[in-house]
Amino acid sequence: MRKLYDWVDERLDITPIWRDIADHEVPEHVNPAHHFSAFVYCFGGLTFFITVIQILSGMFLTMYYVPDVENAWKSVYYLQNEVAFGEIVRGMHHWGASLVIVMMFLHTLRVFFTGSYKKPRELNWIVGVLIFCVMLGLGFTGYLLPWDMKALFATKVGLEIAGSVPFIGDLIKVLLAGDDTIIGAQTLTRFFAIHVFFLPAALFVLLAVHFIMIRRQGISGPL
Ligand code: HEM
Repeated sequence: MRKLYDWVDERLDITPIWRDIADHEVPEHVNPAHHFSAFVYCFGGLTFFITVIQILSGMFLTMYYVPDVENAWKSVYYLQNEVAFGEIVRGMHHWGASLVIVMMFLHTLRVFFTGSYKKPRELNWIVGVLIFCVMLGLGFTGYLLPWDMKALFATKVGLEIAGSVPFIGDLIKVLLAGDDTIIGAQTLTRFFAIHVFFLPAALFVLLAVHFIMIRRQGISGPL
């Protein structure tokens, strides 16, 4: 193992990359081992942890999920009741979806009440707001995918709300639901594509920017 590492390191000089992360000291005021109240500074990391669980469990769900009106509900039923560990994986994705929003909200409150959105971190707050929208979008589009009554009527309400946006409401509705504007085959495939491709791609980029900025600027505080 050591030899393999040295072989790669000699060619690609990888040691400084992980050393930069591993040797980075956690400032005392954000370390719960020093002050218990510093646990509020862990909320961002915990949000990230649940986000990773969502991505992993979601990847497994797509192995069984079929995004068409005939089979969507059946595929979820099959996954839930027949597939080994299917119930657990779906349960993780289901409960994680709520937990990640709660954690993100707590993280946002921490950033707000410690004044960490102020200069020089204004841009990272704005990136955070975009991340917030993407996460809500993931929740909204994921809700329709099981294609049961709850999913259908919740999405109907959501689309009505989107449709009530001044001037561009109808356009947003058509973009999301498809040109027949009733929730149908086009809506399901669109929501699926948005849920598993468009929004996760946006999330990757935004989180990378979020983390790069945190490393460059350092964590805020102490108060
Ligand atoms: C998936 C969602 C998010 C993840 C995974 C995430 C992750 C993180 C992490 C790991 C940190 C380091 C400090 C900490 O853990 O508290 C951080 C800092 C920060 N986050 Fe987030 N974040 C998310 C959403 C947001 C949102 C919604 C906002 C604001 C609207 C935001 C604004 C900030 C700011 C301004 C900082 C710098 C705070 C400081 O230096 O004290 N983040 N984020």
